[in-house]
Amino acid sequence: MAYRIKIPPCVYSGIGSIEDIKTIVNKESAKKALVFTDKGVAGAGLLDRLLKVLDEAGVSCKIFDGLKPEPAYQDVERVAEQMDKENGDIIFAIGGGSVMDAAKLCSLLKGSSYKVKDLLDNPLLASKQLKTVMIPTTCGTGAEATCNAIVAVPEEQSKRGIVNEEMIPDYVILDAGMIAGLPAPIVAATGVDALAHAVECFTSKKATPLSDTYALASAKLIFRNIEEAYANPSNIEARDSMLLGAFYGGVAITGSGTTAVHALSYPLGGKYHIAHGISNAILFAHVMEFNKDACQERLASLCDGVYPECSAKSQDEKADYMVSRIEAIVKNTGIPTDLNAFGVKMEDLEFLVDAGSKQQRLLVNNMKELRIEDIRSIYLKVLKEG
Ligand SMILES: NC(=O)c1ccc[n+]([C@@H]2O[C@H](COP(=O)([O-])OP(=O)(O)OC[C@H]3O[C@@H](n4cnc5c(N)ncnc54)[C@H](O)[C@@H]3O)[C@@H](O)[C@H]2O)c1
Ligand SMILES: [Zn+2]
Repeated sequence: MAYRIKIPPCVYSGIGSIEDIKTIVNKESAKKALVFTDKGVAGAGLLDRLLKVLDEAGVSCKIFDGLKPEPAYQDVERVAEQMDKENGDIIFAIGGGSVMDAAKLCSLLKGSSYKVKDLLDNPLLASKQLKTVMIPTTCGTGAEATCNAIVAVPEEQSKRGIVNEEMIPDYVILDAGMIAGLPAPIVAATGVDALAHAVECFTSKKATPLSDTYALASAKLIFRNIEEAYANPSNIEARDSMLLGAFYGGVAITGSGTTAVHALSYPLGGKYHIAHGISNAILFAHVMEFNKDACQERLASLCDGVYPECSAKSQDEKADYMVSRIEAIVKNTGIPTDLNAFGVKMEDLEFLVDAGSKQQRLLVNNMKELRIEDIRSIYLKVLKEG
């Protein structure tokens, strides 16, 4: 079987690597940057750090900070319209997956007659108009590594992924200084999202030796560091490992693909606006428990890579151990384990089953086929009576 992987061509990593932006703008002869961010990132003082470096490099900026987390495609279209009124020769995104995805879409839309809606219907219509520099400030989505952009589609009460290789970022800056002050609940939610990318990609039907390399590297870094990065904000090494792990998880997504955890999580984000990392975390252990018999060998091999100290366990025990670690990590990082806190009720069950079963782009990657009754029984596990 032939396989391939798409990777951003230039990645700067390490504390202080934000300074490397000077090299990038020099190389690209950039004079004016279109900078995408949101209020949370700006409020944390991170935008100022980028603006200082750009100023020192003699590059002027136009800032777009009106994006809200987990935007609908109409929100991205509004920002794209604002951007179209500006000249600029390079795009920067400083933020989490929401900001980076919007910036990636805008890199295709600049000066074109297409809208995000057109790309939902036909993702391959548009091509890259401006180069992009991604600076992740959460340790989760890996959006800085992928050709995907996820948007909410309110009329479907769900989310959808737009996949186009033209969205592969041109430059990535993985500077742990950007997540040093990331609040613990966001470390938890985005970190478990990254963990889900690693585990789902490793157990995906589409996994290849190339994607396995990145998924395993990601899993090692995240399983081993997430609880420490959550509990001890001053441990910058743990946060650095999380940022690198999230990036590797993103690379694994382009080589393989996420599976049923992400598929069933989309309606929870799209209709109930539960943050992406949280909705994945709530479903994660239940879906892997369901998948376990079909992925036992893969989960055991993940265990060998991440926890070599468990080598004496049987294959069955190793698979069980990985599912129990996922469950423990969600609990230890204070993430809710059911949908009660989000106002999702038992009467929402059939909506969830219907919307979840429509996420065929990802469900086809799942090693074990999910029948409607399997989907229903997974959602039932995270719904409470009352
Ligand atoms: N493109 C992909 O491959 C891909 C993969 C997975 C998820 N996603 C998408 O990414 C989005 C989620 O992104 P996310 O989980 O990174 O979160 P996010 O971008 O939605 O940010 C969550 C919140 O954290 C705040 N924040 C970010 N960095 C901060 C910092 N350093 N300090 C303080 N606050 C900070 C933001 O202001 C925001 O309020 C979803 O829309 C999801 O569907 C994309
Ligand atoms: Zn994700």
